[in-house]
Amino acid sequence: MELAHKISQTLNFLLVSTRTKRFPDGEFYFKFEEEIAGENLVLVQSLYPPQDEHLLELFLMVHTAKDLGAKSITVFAPYLAYSRQDERYLNGEAISSLMVADVLKELGAGALYTVDIHNEKVLKGYKIPAFNLTASGELAKYFAMKDLRDPVVVAPDDEEAAIARVKNGADAINAGYDYFKKERDRHTGEIVTFEKKMNIKGRDVIIVDDIISTGKTTANAVKALKTQGARRVFVGVTHILPLGKALDLIKESGTDEVVGTDSTPSEVAKVSVAPIFSKALKGNMKVVPRLDKLAGVDADFGKVEEVKREIEKLRGEY
Ligand code: R5P
Repeated sequence: MELAHKISQTLNFLLVSTRTKRFPDGEFYFKFEEEIAGENLVLVQSLYPPQDEHLLELFLMVHTAKDLGAKSITVFAPYLAYSRQDERYLNGEAISSLMVADVLKELGAGALYTVDIHNEKVLKGYKIPAFNLTASGELAKYFAMKDLRDPVVVAPDDEEAAIARVKNGADAINAGYDYFKKERDRHTGEIVTFEKKMNIKGRDVIIVDDIISTGKTTANAVKALKTQGARRVFVGVTHILPLGKALDLIKESGTDEVVGTDSTPSEVAKVSVAPIFSKALKGNMKVVPRLDKLAGVDADFGKVEEVKREIEKLRGEY
């Protein structure tokens, strides 16, 4: 997997080869191709759609790692599926985010890292250390290379997490920030973005958000910014999970470019979450130059040998 490979390069971790396949009846098969007993392992698996498949793959990886005697298991799930239902709103409902937390712990995961989680409250349900990182800085930096004029970073809604994200993005490129207020009709799903006068005339604007799903939130914000005279409007979103023609809707709203991260595969995944995870891991675990192992369920096997050679060189140096 590209992402696992990038992380292994940044952190100087060995990349473990893995083998995966589907049996004719659709069941998943997983195998570590190398010895992992006694190793500190990082498992990279993003839980984008089909979420159930990716989740079961992750469960199998964690279980196998534990079963084979890995010393520690850190899970990096950039997109953490099942993060919407963190409470029992109606009697009898499943609390799906808690199920994921409990199963990961039971299987042997020792820590979890994710990126721009939809609802940060979910992490309180984890009985292992669980961290939320943000890609907003990396997304803003991507657009900063476009010769921006007096840039402003804007959130399409005024939730606490959305404001924190744009503030972080703005700080990364030394820009200002602002945010809209939005409401979603609970019955029709229709999104209303309230008019708000912003100081953006003739300036370049970067919208930063966590998710694109129907695209309506982003499209509304782009239109409002263009109407108010923004020079260019760029959109940087961590998880692109487009439903139907979401990306077309956003393009038609007048945006100059939409960019996502490699948390989910998409035609606009141009920013990697590898640097932010690598930085977090270094900071929290003080691992450099410890040489640990890293596995991705769909590791890029072609590059494994190349990475191993680099690591061997590094071993010699330390
Ligand atoms: C809302 O709370 C999120 O931050 C996103 O703005 C929202 O999920 C985007 O959804 P959609 O693309 O369907 O408007």
